[in-house]
Amino acid sequence: MRVAIASDHAGFEQKQILVDYLATELGLDVMDMGPDSDDRVDYPDYAVSVAHAVADGTADRGILVCGTGIGMALAADKVAGIRASSITTPEFADLFRRHNDGNVLCLSGRFVEPAVNKEIIRVFLETPFEGGRHADRVAKVMALD
Ligand code: RB5
Repeated sequence: MRVAIASDHAGFEQKQILVDYLATELGLDVMDMGPDSDDRVDYPDYAVSVAHAVADGTADRGILVCGTGIGMALAADKVAGIRASSITTPEFADLFRRHNDGNVLCLSGRFVEPAVNKEIIRVFLETPFEGGRHADRVAKVMALD
């Protein structure tokens, strides 16, 4: 599985930790789409890079880290084909996959500890979509693109 990841300045420190987790502990193919430092940047610029990588199939899943995860989710969801959400617990990560077929995970670098974000990522990457009645609902959401 190839995972695209990016952050803004508020998520940079955790992004570095999470890139290492994805590559070293989970053994995944990681596309680090920046930034390369914690200099101030605008989160929509990085959200759109990861969202396009997922939407065009360059990456299988996307992960975005900002202060709250909220701005990244707002921006990524504007890209056709993307189902992004701010997720702060492993339980929500599980439902985001099983019910919503989420493909871009947005994390908080300021309010959620790295250990919790690692568990959220593990659940996000390992949990399948349930399909069935949820597939019809997701199709209705995607028809809004
Ligand atoms: C940056 O200060 C902050 O607004 C951003 O990281 C994010 O939390 C926005 O939703």
